[in-house]
Amino acid sequence: MEERPKWSSQTGFLLAAIGSAIGLGNIWRFSYMAYQNGGGAFLIPYFLALVTAGIPLMILEFGLGHSMKGSSVLSFRRIDRRLEWFGWWMPLLVMYGIMLYYTVIIGWCLNYTLFSLNLAWGKEPASFFSETFLRKAKGAWDLQDIVGPIFVSTGVVWLITWFICYKEVNRGIERACKIFMPALFVLTLVLVFWGCSLKGAGDGLKFYLKPDLSKLKDVSVWTSAYGQIFFTLSIGFGIMIAYASYLPRKTNLVKNAFITSVVNCLYSFIAGFAVFSVLGYLVYAQGTAPTREAFENVVKEGAALAFVTYPQAISELPAFNRLFGVLFFLCLTIAGISSAISIIEALTCAVTDKFSVARRKVVSILCATGFLGSIVFVCHSGLIWLDIVDRFINHYGLVLAGFLECVFIGWILKARSLRKHINAVSSWNLSQIWDYLIKFLSPAILGTIYVMDVVNIIKKGYGEYPTKTLLLIGLNALILSFILATVFTIYPWRRKPELVIHEPEEDKVLV
Ligand code: PFF
Repeated sequence: MEERPKWSSQTGFLLAAIGSAIGLGNIWRFSYMAYQNGGGAFLIPYFLALVTAGIPLMILEFGLGHSMKGSSVLSFRRIDRRLEWFGWWMPLLVMYGIMLYYTVIIGWCLNYTLFSLNLAWGKEPASFFSETFLRKAKGAWDLQDIVGPIFVSTGVVWLITWFICYKEVNRGIERACKIFMPALFVLTLVLVFWGCSLKGAGDGLKFYLKPDLSKLKDVSVWTSAYGQIFFTLSIGFGIMIAYASYLPRKTNLVKNAFITSVVNCLYSFIAGFAVFSVLGYLVYAQGTAPTREAFENVVKEGAALAFVTYPQAISELPAFNRLFGVLFFLCLTIAGISSAISIIEALTCAVTDKFSVARRKVVSILCATGFLGSIVFVCHSGLIWLDIVDRFINHYGLVLAGFLECVFIGWILKARSLRKHINAVSSWNLSQIWDYLIKFLSPAILGTIYVMDVVNIIKKGYGEYPTKTLLLIGLNALILSFILATVFTIYPWRRKPELVIHEPEEDKVLV
């Protein structure tokens, strides 16, 4: 008889799910996107994406994992044996696509936490970041060598991830998130209040939130909002399915899905105050008028915003700037690690479900291969690889995963039968509207976004990279996950999937 591990409390489960959702993406990616895509007006497509795809799919993943009592692999296999492949593909895509570079960025955050102690970036944070720290090469194939300090910090991140995941979920991930999440909320609030008390903060917030409704006519604003919702909620990763499989029978799945999604999005919105208040101060400290041009000069995308603009602002702060720097990069590190552990769990859950191998062995192998895979992103041209892989997996992998998930659950399992299970165990009832969202609206929106995105890259290419490089790196990252998923699917089950977990009768069947 095999006992499936269980969360020791609802709060533990919620904190772990929120921990997976809140990650590196929330702290600067959201605020930057909002600024770029119409400021306060971006909240309209973002909110619509949350309501029409984010929350319904979160409920779907919680319901699926809970009703099938299994990882994404076991759950999809139990729906139909032909769907097992898809159950493998989701977590493998994230593990060998996103995780390999995600841990490297967490490593950078660790490095920058230390750099904050003596403001090591000096007066030129931009050249410090790309030349001294990353030692950035010119082309993707110019890998040169491993960058020592990043190699070490990435190794430390993998070691921490291994250490947390090595133990059973209720003793490893649950305990870690019970410490990490409250700490993250407190640190973020400190940064928000600190930032908002600075001179010029009001101007920064004005630029963050001022609505530019004309931007809503631009389709790319809508695709960005849907893409961001998927990434930020960790949907289509197989994570939430695995996490929900460890829940007890009576669980308010609808409420939990709602809380996880809303807390995550609120956190992004609030973290934006910490980012933009400080940028407002930077413009003020440079002595320029707070005009659009002045902000355009300081606001930079993704990596540059966190590792160039922010350090520059930290150096300018009137007091305790080292402490501010440590707190900011510590926030990023904590948020990143609580997300990283969740994908290791999703895959560990899948492998143990199918092959009945000891959990500790699986976690060790995953972390060791993950660390080896990260090495390419630690080389001199790592940033270029990171940029390309990130783009391909997020745009062409995750949205496709979400689309297929809606189709398989909506039409093969039938949304109605999953809703019946969800309503049988939750105290909040789902109405029939959810079935329509899963069967029609969400896949229609995701499918349209996908086609538009593909047409866009064919027409315009991506950034300054040559098409050959793009396809070789980006497509191969996708192809690797296809091959791995096929290999794992073909390999025979150690036990019959239906017998992997022995549960009381009423737990096993979907009503
Ligand atoms: N939800 C995470 C974020 O917003 O940063 C994304 C994520 C990436 C989750 C990688 C899990 C993961 F393994």
